[in-house]
Amino acid sequence: MSGEGTENVAGGGNRMRILAFCCNWCSYAGADLAGVSRLQYPTDVRVIRVMCSGRIEPPLMVRPFELGADGVLVMGCHPGDCHYIGGNYQAEKNHKKASELLGMLGVGSERLRLEWVSAAEGPKFADVMRNFVENIRKMGPLGKTPAEGEGR
Ligand code: FES
Repeated sequence: MSGEGTENVAGGGNRMRILAFCCNWCSYAGADLAGVSRLQYPTDVRVIRVMCSGRIEPPLMVRPFELGADGVLVMGCHPGDCHYIGGNYQAEKNHKKASELLGMLGVGSERLRLEWVSAAEGPKFADVMRNFVENIRKMGPLGKTPAEGEGR
């Protein structure tokens, strides 16, 4: 075991596999602002840019867990700010359905989170990342205890 990936910006703990779907118009711009502002957040997160949070339907929220993700974030514009008018309201409905499904499957609905981050909220983006990664680390890798997941 090389130990690769056991350290990251947040310090200590194991690297988790976390996907963040960010809408192009607000959350991704918030991520960009966090980056250019050099705000630190854990490197456990892989950001996927999508046009709107409403496009992430329940199966897309659940599928990453089948493929080895430990957590999934869906991030969009604040209510009322969606570039496509009501995409984030659809995202709320999708999140509710996917959360229920994850609960039934034993994955745990707390491994899936929906957040609103505007283009001006780089610090909030970094805070959400830190908080979510910390929570997922406490839960441990999916299907493993935290001790079993060491060194991933
Ligand atoms: S464009 Fe951002 S949530 Fe729809």
